[in-house]
Amino acid sequence: MKTLFSEVQILEKVEELGSIITKDYQDKEILLLGVLKGSFLFFADLARSIQGNIQIQFIQAESYGSSTQSSGVVKLNLTKNLNFHGKHIIVVEDIIDTGLTLHKIIEYIESEKPLSLAVCTLLIKKNKANSLDLKLYHGFEIEDYFVVGYGLDFNENYRCLRDIKILEN
Ligand code: IMP
Ligand code: MG
Repeated sequence: MKTLFSEVQILEKVEELGSIITKDYQDKEILLLGVLKGSFLFFADLARSIQGNIQIQFIQAESYGSSTQSSGVVKLNLTKNLNFHGKHIIVVEDIIDTGLTLHKIIEYIESEKPLSLAVCTLLIKKNKANSLDLKLYHGFEIEDYFVVGYGLDFNENYRCLRDIKILEN
């Protein structure tokens, strides 16, 4: 498999995102909400690169099954009763492809009336309609490849690779 981003490139980018978020949220309490499972490594690195008062929570979303195409149906599993009311939420995603997963999550969080809501994704696929009407932090913009590693899987494999690689069929 061809490497798209090396471990070093990824960690540099995560530090960069962490510094931007640190500046933007000075003196504010942040609730980082990780979207499982794909964001688990990005989440851990990002959380440690933000200076400040951070709480963490997770949500699980599934839409791909064993395919490289979104099924179009997103299933949300909450880890427990989450309380977003009065909190500054940053949703942490591994990658935005069709944006369906994020839409579903955002719809849910907004109904809980947080103080503010933003999204931080490591990867975003180019030329995909991004109809998100809120603050979006992103690491890298990529072509329409299916990528694995650094948390991202194909059929539950490759999540623990240190680099991000392009899956070759
Ligand atoms: P979306 O709902 O189409 O935006 O898809 C978002 C979710 O699908 C991400 O959170 C990933 O878990 C998964 N996904 C999308 N593209 C890829 C990819 O290229 N590799 C691995 N997982 C992906
Ligand atoms: Mg995901």
